[in-house]
Amino acid sequence: MTNPLDGGPAPAAAAVVFSDALEQAEQYASILASRGIEWGLIGPREGDKLWERHLLNSVAVSPSIHDDALVVDVGSGAGLPGIPLALMRPDLRVTLLEPLERRAHFLTLAVDELGIGDRVRVVRERAEEHRQLYDVATCRAVAPVTKLLAWTTHLFSPGGRLVALKGESVDGELIKAANELKKRRLSARVHLARVHPDVEATRVLVVEGPRG
Ligand SMILES: C[S@@+](CC[C@H](N)C(=O)[O-])C[C@H]1O[C@@H](n2cnc3c(N)ncnc32)[C@H](O)[C@@H]1O
Repeated sequence: MTNPLDGGPAPAAAAVVFSDALEQAEQYASILASRGIEWGLIGPREGDKLWERHLLNSVAVSPSIHDDALVVDVGSGAGLPGIPLALMRPDLRVTLLEPLERRAHFLTLAVDELGIGDRVRVVRERAEEHRQLYDVATCRAVAPVTKLLAWTTHLFSPGGRLVALKGESVDGELIKAANELKKRRLSARVHLARVHPDVEATRVLVVEGPRG
């Protein structure tokens, strides 16, 4: 059972979404509510919104990621969306990419405490400097689309995809990024994803590289 002051009680949707990993998701919510707030990675007033705003919102990327994919979560911060995704999808191998030392340390502790170090690793590096190819790059709240393409295309293309959680500004960002997408021979589409009927739908941007 989760202490209501320590991440808040898991909503009914969380039991459905996280299924066998619900206990680990509760543990992660409690890490965010305590150390995440103390270390300034999560806003002080977000303690009672953690499930809806962070854990359940994060897993909206899941349907856009194929089985057994190699995933890099760019600018992972406190582990979002990478950690909830890894908890929900034990088939994935996830790299949490985060350049800031304090945040990378937070991630290392969280991965260790959640016991997911066999399939989740932390790399302290900027996306532009990271040299490895993945099936999928995920990200949330890192940069507008044009900058995101400059930082991440080499991580997922050719053959892979970028799956980004986005806000209402995404349509305008895509207009600004049109030339960059064309230059890199990438296609982009946005859809609304709803992980559970009780959870607000969120915009998911999928950018794909040329195939073959
Ligand atoms: C606003 S936070 C978002 C964190 C998390 N993705 C979330 O949704 O809560 C942006 C994160 O991107 C990271 N970041 C900034 N520039 C980056 C870069 N060039 N490569 C990778 N990460 C970067 C920051 O250190 C920060 O942790």
